[in-house]
Amino acid sequence: MKNKEDKPGQAILTVKNLNAFYRERGTKGGSRRQILYDISFSMQEGEILGLVGESGSGKSTLVKTLLGIHKDYHGEILHYSSRPQMVFQDPYGSLNPSRKINWILEEPLRLAGGFSKAERQEKVMQMLHKVGLEEKLAERYPRQLSGGQRQRVGIAAALMLKPRLLIADEPISALDVTIQSQILNLLLTLHEEMGLSILFISHDLRVIYQMCERILILNDGAICEEGPCSEVIFSPVTDYTKALLRAAGLEPL
Ligand SMILES: Nc1ncnc2c1ncn2[C@@H]1O[C@H](COP(=O)(O)OP(=O)(O)O)[C@@H](O)[C@H]1O
Ligand SMILES: [Mg+2]
Repeated sequence: MKNKEDKPGQAILTVKNLNAFYRERGTKGGSRRQILYDISFSMQEGEILGLVGESGSGKSTLVKTLLGIHKDYHGEILHYSSRPQMVFQDPYGSLNPSRKINWILEEPLRLAGGFSKAERQEKVMQMLHKVGLEEKLAERYPRQLSGGQRQRVGIAAALMLKPRLLIADEPISALDVTIQSQILNLLLTLHEEMGLSILFISHDLRVIYQMCERILILNDGAICEEGPCSEVIFSPVTDYTKALLRAAGLEPL
């Protein structure tokens, strides 16, 4: 299912010595808490890179920092392509509830400008096909769709401007188990058909194993282990990785 060929390529994202902080909740001017410690990694064009760690380990903070949403950091973040786009855990929260799917998918094109109404409509219909949704769903509101359909719309919205890099932060964690593998397969198909790079984030090593060629393991804001998926999963080095394997029902060998 996954594409494990070694494709020596160009970097699409490089992170060097990234340290990120939050102001402690409820404090003014005072203490700053460090969340990410000296994170360094590089992603290649066309790669699916897995980022795994327990809840609270700093995965979403890393995402927000990479996207420029979280600004309290030092270190280097180098993007070599157009702006990466996000797929969220809960598409319901990110889809405007008062607009039809049609409007939601047209919006990135309207904001970017330079497309006629007819061109926008054509692109929306093409994208619906690409993510496996029927055209008639364009006339519905987010609440009228199933969880899986909504996540397909979330993925479609992220792809409207043809990003080279997609960042998917726990994209299946809010979905029914029966729907989860459909969404994973969709992401793999898009990866193969469009050569899309994906930073795929999960707390579940089993899911990462299905999706990724290479993994980073985040423990308390620091990368404690990294390498090709098969190596990290079959010969884990740290106790933390072994515990994540057990939590995913994959006993370390
Ligand atoms: N806006 C915020 N203000 C202060 N602390 C935060 C904020 N967001 C997250 N944190 C803290 O940062 C740590 C990492 O959180 P997060 O990046 O969301 O982890 P993960 O996505 O791996 O579950 C947690 O201890 C969390 O409580
Ligand atoms: Mg998170």
